[in-house]
Amino acid sequence: MTGFTVIHRCVLLSTFLTLQLLLCITATDTLEANQIIEDGSLLISKGGKFALGFFHPGHSSSSNRSYLGIWYHKVTPQTVVWVANRNSPVNRTSGVLALDGHGCLVLYSSHDQRRVPLWSANATSSVDTYVAQLLDSGNLVLLQGLPEQRRMVWQSFDYPTDTALPGMRIGLNLRTGFDRNLTSWRSPDDPGIGNYSFQVHPNGSPQFFLYQKPNGNHYWRSGSWPWAHFPDLYNYTFVNGEDEVYFSFTVGDENLLLRIVVDDTGTMKRLRWHENDERWKEYWSAPKSRCDYYGQCGVNSLCDPNNVNSFECTCLPGYEPRSPGSWRLRDGSAGCVRKRLKPSSFCERGEGFLRLDNIKVPDTSAAVWVSRSMTQAACEEACRSNCSCSAYSRRYLEGKEKGCLAWYGELNDTVIFLDSGDDLYISISFWVTAENLRKLSGDDAVVKVKLAIVVPSVASVLFAMSIFVYFRLRSWKRERVKSRWIKRVFDSAGGSNSSTGSLAATVLGANTIYPELPFFDLREIMTATQNFSPANKVGQGGFGEVYKGQLTNGEEVAVKRLSRSSGQGIEELKNEVVLIARLQHRNLVKLLGCCIEDEEQLLVYEYLPNKSLDSFLFADERRSPLLEWRIRFNILVGIARGILYLHQDSRFRIIHRDLKSSNVLLDAEMNPKISDFGLAKIFDSDHTQNKTSRVVGTYGYMSPEYAVFGKFSVKSDVFSFGAILLEVVSGKRINCFLHEAAPRTWIGHVWNLWSEKRVLEIMDPSLKECYVAEEALRCIQLGLLCVQEDAMDRPNMSAVVLMLNSETPIPSPKQPAFVFRRPGADANSVMAGGGDPCSINDLTLTGVVSR
Ligand SMILES: *[C@@H]1O[C@H](CO)[C@@H](O)[C@H](O)[C@H]1NC(C)=O
Ligand SMILES: *[C@@H]1O[C@H](CO)[C@@H](O)[C@H](O)[C@H]1NC(C)=O
Ligand SMILES: *[C@@H]1O[C@H](CO)[C@@H](O)[C@H](O)[C@H]1NC(C)=O
Ligand SMILES: *[C@@H]1O[C@H](CO)[C@@H](O)[C@H](O)[C@H]1NC(C)=O
Ligand SMILES: *[C@@H]1O[C@H](CO)[C@@H](O)[C@H](O)[C@H]1NC(C)=O
Ligand SMILES: *[C@@H]1O[C@H](CO)[C@@H](O)[C@H](O)[C@H]1NC(C)=O
Ligand SMILES: *[C@@H]1O[C@H](CO)[C@@H](O)[C@H](O)[C@H]1NC(C)=O
Ligand SMILES: *[C@@H]1O[C@H](CO)[C@@H](O)[C@H](O)[C@H]1NC(C)=O
Repeated sequence: MTGFTVIHRCVLLSTFLTLQLLLCITATDTLEANQIIEDGSLLISKGGKFALGFFHPGHSSSSNRSYLGIWYHKVTPQTVVWVANRNSPVNRTSGVLALDGHGCLVLYSSHDQRRVPLWSANATSSVDTYVAQLLDSGNLVLLQGLPEQRRMVWQSFDYPTDTALPGMRIGLNLRTGFDRNLTSWRSPDDPGIGNYSFQVHPNGSPQFFLYQKPNGNHYWRSGSWPWAHFPDLYNYTFVNGEDEVYFSFTVGDENLLLRIVVDDTGTMKRLRWHENDERWKEYWSAPKSRCDYYGQCGVNSLCDPNNVNSFECTCLPGYEPRSPGSWRLRDGSAGCVRKRLKPSSFCERGEGFLRLDNIKVPDTSAAVWVSRSMTQAACEEACRSNCSCSAYSRRYLEGKEKGCLAWYGELNDTVIFLDSGDDLYISISFWVTAENLRKLSGDDAVVKVKLAIVVPSVASVLFAMSIFVYFRLRSWKRERVKSRWIKRVFDSAGGSNSSTGSLAATVLGANTIYPELPFFDLREIMTATQNFSPANKVGQGGFGEVYKGQLTNGEEVAVKRLSRSSGQGIEELKNEVVLIARLQHRNLVKLLGCCIEDEEQLLVYEYLPNKSLDSFLFADERRSPLLEWRIRFNILVGIARGILYLHQDSRFRIIHRDLKSSNVLLDAEMNPKISDFGLAKIFDSDHTQNKTSRVVGTYGYMSPEYAVFGKFSVKSDVFSFGAILLEVVSGKRINCFLHEAAPRTWIGHVWNLWSEKRVLEIMDPSLKECYVAEEALRCIQLGLLCVQEDAMDRPNMSAVVLMLNSETPIPSPKQPAFVFRRPGADANSVMAGGGDPCSINDLTLTGVVSR
């Protein structure tokens, strides 16, 4: 509208111009008011770099059409960088550019009596002094005011044609909507508006697109914003402000001639003038490879331009081809869909992240800046906490801090870059991690080999590892793309602050675990357990049933079958897989593998023929001389060593949180093995305590600070150990009461006896007198030390192991926790909700403590 009135005004003004007033000028850089430029005369910028005048594209002899333009003065062949009247050429020799006294820069044909402008430049309405000047940057500016205080009112840099020059801004003014884009010529002979344009798309994180008319399809997308962190001949500036989104570039060396052009074939080129060769050489161009074309592989895929001879498309980890048929025929346009996962009862995203390196990150138009400045851990947490978050990347939006950009939903146009690019963290399900890495680790050979070698000896572990490494290397060669680009996310526990989170996979290197953990075939397990026949059932755990099975190689295994009915326990199961597969200790039960197929989630353990410690301690008919004092003592030492390993000898500090006699299994030689890591938590080594609002544990074994306040630390495990110890020496359940009416708990009773120096009365009657009284006393004293009320007073596990094994003096215990029962209530109902405390109360219970 403004444009129309301005042009209209210019029409009127120009008709009043008289030829006598117009003076012809040559070879200066300035056009003063009432001067004209005719076809043949030029404005030359001060340094002689650029010229403005009329040009005739194509073979000059055959061309009739004349355009006002700016070109490099010293470059032949003539290289035009700006055109005024792109779509309205004047006849040869008839073009006139005039600046009137009112700041109107008009182009008209000298043959036209009415001097209707074919093109004009915006100006202000006030009457003033104006000059037009061609600058050495190639910018034609219209200046208003007296020579000393001139103000720019118009510039050709605001109206780019197909070429971006140093200093020019290509982008969008978000307030006015003014769009500075590049638009190709129709053909090398025709500067008219062609079919291709280069424009910013400001949504999400800004990106530039090459669009093709007439449909407006975007067929190429610029790399991530900001581009190229590495040193480049083109020194780019990116501005992503409230008012404006644009890029521009500068050139360090004045003598270098650089330009960016969108040519008539729709190729974007960065060109550099080589003086010696007298030609423009391509510094960079796009689109070049198939992967450069937007969405070449459809959604949720990864395009790898390195795959020159084979299919360039792969699905992102966790996705599979939507149309496997066309995928096989090397048509990737249908893209990929998220794998359907089992179990599907929980959020399938955000549980783990796989890092892809050197990536042109997915289309950011729908991406969201979670924050303009955020740490890796916080960004990951933000993505994990939203089920629909499919990926994130940490990037510079502006300034020096990296922000957090997250994608929700589909990922479009993800490409592998050869030399630059960013890290992209794909959100994947825990199970995908496992499956993906299983693929990475090669074929079933690994599984078979690993299965054959489960003998717990250093040599065989080393052998298995070397075989694994061999297969891994082999498969790395085979699956080049994946192995090159899918890198481990969680290389170090230090990388994340969320180490106390419930899922251990966030801390542990996911693929440092799974390749070592074999996956079993469901059929194999079915055969081994005779289709989970009731005859093979050996136990019922908190989260499912346990079956005995025999593999085809004769090995006996215990198979834990997660209950199908409820999704509950899946977290615990995952936790266990991640944790226990990582741990190797003779006093920890060994996980041989897992199986996730159809609706089944199975864990396969070594089979321990003697079942659990509590079945020996408390089942009358099983009680036998087998559990003589020496064995009991060794069991205690073994349990203590196992806990010590968890607490400080393994790579991570692990708190079991559910130690109890039913979670201690016994092998054929009566060696104890701690099991059930479903509730275990990993800690940073500098973290010593944590709090949870979800208290899960077993009454009697839970320390008071955990049961009441939800606080847990290694000292909570020490408390549980003390409880187990007292059970082992006495043969009585910790959560049992001597007399239903007595005001004291069983621990209180022990404490009483201790104070009265009669504590040996608690010794298991089945031991008769066959124990070393001194040793037994030390044990009980140690047990009482472990169940002291204040966590600070309890010894740590290394002290416990020391005191168990040597003659070191044991401090006197203070009063233990839970000495008194709650008056008038069955104390058991606090957590268990009633029932006979002496028999069924070893089920793991859940309670919630308010924070
Ligand atoms: C120039 O234009 C005139 C009239 O439009 C036309 O007759 C003539 O053929 C053109 N000459 C060339 C070389 O195209
Ligand atoms: C070009 O010249 C032809 C005849 O010579 C004329 O018909 C036409 O209008 C002219 N075009 C312009 C833009 O002056
Ligand atoms: C055009 O001129 C008007 C004033 O007449 C001014 O407000 C506007 O910013 C100018 N537009 C451009 C693109 O220079
Ligand atoms: C490019 O910008 C101009 C304004 O300078 C605008 O008129 C034109 O529509 C834009 N081109 C495209 C393809 O949007
Ligand atoms: C622009 O695209 C249309 C439709 O594809 C085509 O007909 C036309 O020739 C193209 N124009 C140029 C200058 O390439
Ligand atoms: C790049 O450009 C910015 C401003 O545009 C300037 O401050 C910086 O020094 C330039 N860097 C180089 C290497 O030329
Ligand atoms: C991704 O591409 C598909 C198909 O081209 C399109 O429907 C969808 O809107 C795109 N999504 C985003 C986030 O760009
Ligand atoms: C996840 O993020 C999307 C996009 O920002 C938002 O619409 C949705 O509400 C979020 N969902 C949750 C559960 O936060």
